[in-house]
Amino acid sequence: MATNWNPDEIKKVLVINGSPNRERSNTLVVTKAFLAGLNEDEKLDIEIVNASDLNVRPCLGCLSCWGRTAGECVIRNDDILPLKEKILHADIIIASYPLYFFSMPGVMKVITDRLLSMMATYEGQKAPENGQSFHGFRYYNEKQRFIVISTCAYTEAKAAYQSLILQHDAICGKNNYTPILVPQMKTLNDLHNENKITRYLNKFTLAGKTFRQQGYLSSEELENLSKPPFTEGAYKIFLNNFWESERNKGK
Ligand SMILES: Cc1cc2nc3c(=O)[nH]c(=O)nc-3n(C[C@H](O)[C@H](O)[C@H](O)COP(=O)(O)O)c2cc1C
Repeated sequence: MATNWNPDEIKKVLVINGSPNRERSNTLVVTKAFLAGLNEDEKLDIEIVNASDLNVRPCLGCLSCWGRTAGECVIRNDDILPLKEKILHADIIIASYPLYFFSMPGVMKVITDRLLSMMATYEGQKAPENGQSFHGFRYYNEKQRFIVISTCAYTEAKAAYQSLILQHDAICGKNNYTPILVPQMKTLNDLHNENKITRYLNKFTLAGKTFRQQGYLSSEELENLSKPPFTEGAYKIFLNNFWESERNKGK
């Protein structure tokens, strides 16, 4: 158990849902299964924010948040300021989003850029190596936890998420966040085999329970969460059938 972790002190969980599918997000299905375990005692205050519903302008690149207005963005009339407040006051922050082009969806990147004010100022450090954060957090709080839950279409989560992991290692530091990376999830949901879905999701609920107790998941636990629901052969057949039926709908 992490020494600074007390499950009873955890009060607030913020979920940023970065899928344009909003409530219909396949990733959110996994996130909700995880939340069910995390909040088994039903004592947590959980807020889900849909990134696509926010009014967030792209970063202006002025770097004022590191200089003239240190710690604050000059754009004050959109939804970043309230989001930043929510982030600062959450004990656990979960970014829940699909993998897009081996990275985060655009809306999440725009939000990430606008949160530069939360990072410590760059002062000429060497580029990060060995999983260090590129320059650390302005408001570092050792009790706060950051979790990324993402689903993708590929079967091999390790390969598909390589660039996203590198990016998050550089932003957060390798051991400062928990990546829960899930392949084939959309197809699993599309098949509507409720028994199989429930069985598959159960491991995420258990992981949520474990996370609440420990404040982290081991690399073995994370690897187990990345196992695909289907064999490669079955998955190819499901996908071919799916696209054929979708194309037929277009005729
Ligand atoms: C624009 C776009 C890009 C995508 N890029 C990838 C990708 O690089 N790798 C991958 O495995 N899946 C990719 N996918 C598939 C989604 O990650 C996958 O279907 C995901 O489970 C959808 O999650 P959601 O329902 O929460 O939005 C992409 C989907 C879209 C729409």
